[in-house]
Amino acid sequence: MKRIAVLTSGGDAPGMNAATRAVTRSAIAEGMEILGVRRGFAGLIKADLAPLGARDVGGIIQQGGTLLGTSRCPEFETAAGREHALATLREYGVDGLVVIGGNGSQQGSRALHDMGFPVVGVASTIDNDLAGTDVTIGVDTALNVALEAIDRLKVTASSHRRAFLVEVMGRRCGYLALLAGIAGGAEAILLPETETSPEELAQQLRIAYERGKPHALVVAAEGATWRATELAAHFASHRQKLGFELRITVLGHVQRGAAPSAFDRLLASRLGAAAVDSLRHGKLGLLVGWSHGRVATAPLSEIAGQPKPLDPALLALAGRLSR
Ligand code: F6P
Repeated sequence: MKRIAVLTSGGDAPGMNAATRAVTRSAIAEGMEILGVRRGFAGLIKADLAPLGARDVGGIIQQGGTLLGTSRCPEFETAAGREHALATLREYGVDGLVVIGGNGSQQGSRALHDMGFPVVGVASTIDNDLAGTDVTIGVDTALNVALEAIDRLKVTASSHRRAFLVEVMGRRCGYLALLAGIAGGAEAILLPETETSPEELAQQLRIAYERGKPHALVVAAEGATWRATELAAHFASHRQKLGFELRITVLGHVQRGAAPSAFDRLLASRLGAAAVDSLRHGKLGLLVGWSHGRVATAPLSEIAGQPKPLDPALLALAGRLSR
């Protein structure tokens, strides 16, 4: 392989820049040319790409966001869009592509691979919703952002003896909420994977106070059955029956823009370099991720678009420790 391209796609995740840097410098170290595609698959369709040098990716390892830009690209979901993208790759003489992104983006990688183009994916999303990898680039940093907010809210919750709910991102996956709930010492965690009614939640909060806790803190995933705003409204209009007022904080995009943690920088550096090796050695159509403490690959055909089940041991741990 003489010339490869790299793009970042979907929601930006802290560490995407570190991964872009690792892909770029590894490719150069192996004597390859590298092109950076702007704004994800949209940049492929619009032929918006340019050569990257080692200096172009200098000073970005510590930066959140993505230097290359990213996008959600509905056009790439159409056959015509994908043909355009493929035509661009051929026009620019690109022999292989690295796609840094999450579950939606890796479905795009798989589509290109199925069209016969050499692609390798790098697992990167704050949602950690990709099967085939234990963790994704960005989730550690996003988790720490959520924890900072949770720790602060607990202070206020304790001072006022109030119930607070923090909604974290994660799309349809409860990983971020579950980990934030465990590490933040939440009294209740609402997940897409487990159904909790407002009555059950009120009961959990009541029990927390009965146990002598000065606060009741709930961490909710954005994908849970009840969104934070709906729950707050429900608790307000059923105040008599449920017995609580629920104050809510929706963290939203605040979770995405932080400077990457040491863990995410190192993970991104390893996975980016491994993706280039994978392309060089003709190991194609794979997701490069991290499993059991080392770089691991999984076929895109098996993992793209698949749900990632939560670890039952973590669910059990959350229940045990919230007493
Ligand atoms: O995939 C990352 C993520 O932040 C999800 O957690 C969230 O549901 C979604 O992106 C938000 O998307 P957007 O940035 O397009 O609003």
